[in-house]
Amino acid sequence: MNAREKEEYLREYSILKTQGKPFFPYAVFKDTAMAAITLGVIILMAVLLGAELGPKADPTTTTYSPRPEWYFFFLFELLRVVKPPELVFMATLGIPTIWLMMLLLLPFYDLGPERHPLKRPIAMIGAVATVVGMAYLTILGAVAGSPAVIELEVAPRYEEGKLVTASQGCLGCHKIGESGNTLGPNLTHIGDRLGRDAIVRTLLNPTAPMPPYVDLQEESPEQFEQLVGFVASLKEEMPPPEESEPAEQASAEQK
Ligand code: HEC
Repeated sequence: MNAREKEEYLREYSILKTQGKPFFPYAVFKDTAMAAITLGVIILMAVLLGAELGPKADPTTTTYSPRPEWYFFFLFELLRVVKPPELVFMATLGIPTIWLMMLLLLPFYDLGPERHPLKRPIAMIGAVATVVGMAYLTILGAVAGSPAVIELEVAPRYEEGKLVTASQGCLGCHKIGESGNTLGPNLTHIGDRLGRDAIVRTLLNPTAPMPPYVDLQEESPEQFEQLVGFVASLKEEMPPPEESEPAEQASAEQK
């Protein structure tokens, strides 16, 4: 802002100041009235429509997939797409905090006198980019699969095993396809390196921090078998799902 602009601005400001109404009580009254109306509408809706209660919490569930409220989907998505653990802090706390600080400091670094949107290209680009970016991440977060789902095409006879594997929390440490984490070895092609027996041995007698799955084997041997079958089937050369249909039919007929 140069000296002439500043003078112009101050002149305009003093004119408006003599014409205008003081903040208290005019603006304060309007704000209070609007807040009271909003509160009244919420109370009325709560009385007339009732408040929604979800199903009763079940602490034993293994299939629940935790998801944030929709207005946190953009943060959720940032956390999901940023894989390296050392960058997670930056993505989920760093970027939003830096963004907010820039917004708070805006009056100190954007000193231009212009108010028309077309004359403030940098501010407008920043605002549009933020809105579009958040909207995009929100949509991605909304359609993203559950973190406990293995996004991998498998032959139908391994579908059950895939669900069991997902529900046993292996993805918490292992990557299978594009899903999961990198604490433990990647299991996407584990079938090429380990046979069934070796996988069973690992599950029953693992190296820490991997927990043993002895309980699963004792309590639901069938699920344990399905899990082992699925993990052993994870090979570089996966049978294409369509071609293995007959195999499933055959095993279905045997039952
Ligand atoms: C708490 C984290 C954790 C969980 C949960 C976990 N694992 Fe592991 N797993 C590991 C780690 C770490 C290793 C590597 C151990 C080692 O170095 O010997 C490993 C090793 C393995 C191996 C051997 C891999 C190799 O390359 O030799 C297999 C197979 C395996 N896990 C399968 C599973 C399956 C299936 C599940 C779910 C039922 C599971 N793991 C759950 C952490 C985990």
